[in-house]
Amino acid sequence: TQAFFQDKSLAGRQILVTAGPTQEDIDPVRYISNRSSGKMGYAIARAAWEAGARVTLVSGPTALEAPYGVERINVKSGRQMHAHVMQLVPGQDIFISVAAVADWHVSNTHPQKVKKTGAQGGLDLALSENPDILAEVAALPNGPWCVGFAAETENLHDYAEAKRKRKNIPLLVGNLAQETMESDQSRMVLFDEQGNHPLPLLDKPAAARRLIVEIANRINHLTS
Ligand code: CTP
Ligand code: CA
Repeated sequence: TQAFFQDKSLAGRQILVTAGPTQEDIDPVRYISNRSSGKMGYAIARAAWEAGARVTLVSGPTALEAPYGVERINVKSGRQMHAHVMQLVPGQDIFISVAAVADWHVSNTHPQKVKKTGAQGGLDLALSENPDILAEVAALPNGPWCVGFAAETENLHDYAEAKRKRKNIPLLVGNLAQETMESDQSRMVLFDEQGNHPLPLLDKPAAARRLIVEIANRINHLTS
């Protein structure tokens, strides 16, 4: 790691990172969300700053402090995250999409708190698809170099490689949800045009630094 801190392999690069879950309101006191602490995304933002990049972090609600040197923008919903990312993305060199964006938002939100007694024992939610932020950024002409994440519960290799191709991104980080969620460690498998590259189980800060090295190697290879 000493060499890593000294070599500033991302000096002069602008990096946009998303992290954390999003919250999709049902009513003023209730929401639906995804299981995400934000630890991996924050560790990546920190590692990118340590490597010399200028880092902006668009974060859903988490219990974490913004890493030193990183500009954080707080959002709640997937649509807010989408709006901020699309506004910030021009001029970015790299986009690392770590957020667990809710796939749907509630389209029949209630302006007042729903009362249990009025809901007749249940409540029907209507869900509409959220924008796919990563796919949209990846499709931009002259957009940043994109890195996606996929937490799968089964068929990791098939699902992750299919996702990388579908979103048309050069690098996708796959891991098993049951291994990474609510954990301080991560076992990543990198999927790129060459195939897949399993990495060892690492603490999230170490995993983040390793990923930044992998990203810097690929980017610096492209532009040198
Ligand atoms: N992603 C995103 N916007 C969304 C959904 C996902 O930017 N609305 C990004 C995530 O940040 C991640 C990648 O896309 O980098 C893959 O997310 P994932 O949920 O695994 O993929 P989906 O395409 O949503 O497929 P599914 O949830 O059905 O597995
Ligand atoms: Ca999803």
